Amino acid sequence: MIRQMSSSLRGTLLALMPQSALPDRLLPKTSVKQLFKNQCASCHGESGGGDGVLAAQLKPAPTDFSDKARALNRSLLGLYDAISRGIDETAMPAFDQLSEQERWSLAFHVGSLAFQSGPPVPSGVSNVTLQQLVNHNPAQLAADLPEVTLQTVEGL
Ligand code: HEC
Repeated sequence: MIRQMSSSLRGTLLALMPQSALPDRLLPKTSVKQLFKNQCASCHGESGGGDGVLAAQLKPAPTDFSDKARALNRSLLGLYDAISRGIDETAMPAFDQLSEQERWSLAFHVGSLAFQSGPPVPSGVSNVTLQQLVNHNPAQLAADLPEVTLQTVEGL
């Protein structure tokens, strides 16, 4: 309950933040994977399943990024924020020593892990803006945009 409240509060705060910090491009996939392996895998596990070597000792446990139900309800901005500022009263540290580009790349990387077996993106769904993609969670995107189904969002 408390965690639910703080995550909705986080959502409200994020909606107020200006979007000036998006990088022009993300790092190549291989570099992001290497970064994740070096900095994150000890807790989140090498493939992001929440099963790193330290995981058993942590409460709350590190997020399992392959958990689709959870992934549908968070935005890339929410992930970026957690990476940048850490999460209070959990083992999740702030990675403010990483560049913005590294943090955004990691957010896109972990945000994609639940959807890896998703369908290919159908052509013609090009009117989702980067802003919408970053600010909304997949469930909201599908609800707000009549031409977009949840399946399409999963493939984005
Ligand atoms: C020392 C252990 C530890 C390390 C290292 C760590 N995390 Fe975490 N992380 C956690 C824990 C524990 C949570 C769960 C907090 C919770 O459930 O509220 C978490 C939560 C998160 C979340 C929030 C997910 C959500 O659904 O809200 C993101 C994003 C995240 N971590 C990304 C990363 C990335 C990227 C790295 C590497 C740069 C990293 N973490 C390294 C322990 C760690």
